[in-house]
Amino acid sequence: MHENQYCTRLNLPDAVTNLDILTLDDIIPFNISESLVNPEVLSILKSRGFGIDSVEIFKTGPGNPMLRIHIDDSPYLNGGYVHDDIGKLNWIYGNLDCNMTWFKERAGNVRKNEVNSFVPYVGFDEEDVEPIANINIGRNAVIQAAIPHTVINNSDVFWYCLGIHLSYEGFTRVPYQFMVDKLKDYVLPQ
Ligand SMILES: [Fe+2]
Repeated sequence: MHENQYCTRLNLPDAVTNLDILTLDDIIPFNISESLVNPEVLSILKSRGFGIDSVEIFKTGPGNPMLRIHIDDSPYLNGGYVHDDIGKLNWIYGNLDCNMTWFKERAGNVRKNEVNSFVPYVGFDEEDVEPIANINIGRNAVIQAAIPHTVINNSDVFWYCLGIHLSYEGFTRVPYQFMVDKLKDYVLPQ
């Protein structure tokens, strides 16, 4: 994998121009319509050949400090197949000091196929995995979503993430470095 194998920081325009969108629903995570995404961002993505597969909002913080450790894919989505390389486009709002942690699976772990508010994913208990990277992803980044990951926010300020799964020529999961290369005009010095 590339040297920035977990996250590559970008400076795309804000994904939402109205922050109220982040709190539309009490159920977290939830999907929103791409029509709520900043048209400037949609235009940039479309000019690179990308479509929008899904737009999700997550939060963690007071009362719910830790997201479930997960991979952003599911055998329910792909006829039994789980991708081993997935780029996801994230924008962070709220507590920008909060890091994302990636994990490797312990030998013998059996993956759990779960569904949370209609979003299927592969889930992991803490004893199933061990941490391998802990990175502040900034306000906008491509992150590697095929390696187990989570965000733990013990502060009293919510961390919100608007994440987009892009599609490309009919594929609904796009490899990480492919996504970074297509968006190279927006890659920040790492
Ligand atoms: Fe994720």
